[in-house]
Amino acid sequence: MKAKIVSTASYLPEKVLSNADLEKLVDTTDEWITSRTGMKERRLAADDEFTSNMGTKAAKLAMERAGLESKDVDLILVATLTPDYMFPSTACLIQRELKAENAAAMDFQAACSGYIYGLSIAKGYIQAGMYKNIILIAAEKLSAIVDYEDRGTSILFGDGASACVISSEGSGLEIDAVTLGADGNLAEILIMPAGGVRNPASKETVENRDHYIKMEGREVFKHAVRRMEAASQKCVEISGVDEIHWLVPHQANIRIIEVLAKRFKIPMEKVFLTIHKYGNTSASSVGIALDELLNEKKIEKGENILLPAFGAGLTWGAALLTKE
Ligand code: ACO
Repeated sequence: MKAKIVSTASYLPEKVLSNADLEKLVDTTDEWITSRTGMKERRLAADDEFTSNMGTKAAKLAMERAGLESKDVDLILVATLTPDYMFPSTACLIQRELKAENAAAMDFQAACSGYIYGLSIAKGYIQAGMYKNIILIAAEKLSAIVDYEDRGTSILFGDGASACVISSEGSGLEIDAVTLGADGNLAEILIMPAGGVRNPASKETVENRDHYIKMEGREVFKHAVRRMEAASQKCVEISGVDEIHWLVPHQANIRIIEVLAKRFKIPMEKVFLTIHKYGNTSASSVGIALDELLNEKKIEKGENILLPAFGAGLTWGAALLTKE
């Protein structure tokens, strides 16, 4: 049994946060941000727009494109580190909006690697014969947990959502191989320290700004390159392909992406980028880029797309898709 991505979709909120806007908020420059990250703009959700709203919009479009009716959805998977609530899950909120009454629904959390982890979960369920139609949604309202007084992190993140329908039937992109990894020893180098049961919200946690993302950028950078490269290598080996036609990486930093492209000898015109427009949208980033690639370029039968990602946890992974 093959697991195939039969449709993709994405949703980006309208409001733009440019490098010039950030220059007014923190001690930074357009030149620094552009040269160190490749980012020019990101999108911000409206005050009354949440992760579930953005995820629902992307999911509805993916279902429409796949011709999938609500009653035929078996499972809704949501990758997010910015859920609407600690509980109930964002997946249940989206299930309500989709009126997918026959679907099971769950969130899972692998930070920026969420989309890749989600592909692997969906592939497993489909190949086990347990479900036929799964909607994978990755959605983030990172602006709710970004510290706009911290120049080390505020410049990086944006909001957005992506979705795909993964089915055992129909045609599209076969999920050929997926590799995943994690290293909890480095959990604290990228973390939101408060808000969970270890540090519940208190006057102190608010005063310490502990409800925002904290990151040791240089350390994260180092591991990102190493881990995405190894995951991609393993994925290529498992699938046995001898050529990668498109690289659609997690959009965290252009310098990380360039190193990766060079190591796999993929020319930059075959690397699909959204980083300049949307920054790092965590779990949704790979899915947004994949959706835009499929909308803008013609992928020929037999061509391969490599999707590497990396995030907090630490987590990492890569997926190799082949056009049927
Ligand atoms: N504007 C101007 N100067 C800045 C800024 C800024 N926005 N941010 C940092 N600097 C300064 C620093 O203070 C430092 O100054 P100093 O030399 O006087 O001390 C200098 O620039 C260099 O700082 P570094 O942190 O070493 O800069 P670096 O080149 O590493 O770039 C960045 C920082 C962009 C954060 C990079 O480390 C990075 O991209 N890291 C990886 C992030 C990532 O991949 N995340 C993925 C997962 S995200 C998730 O899972 C949610």
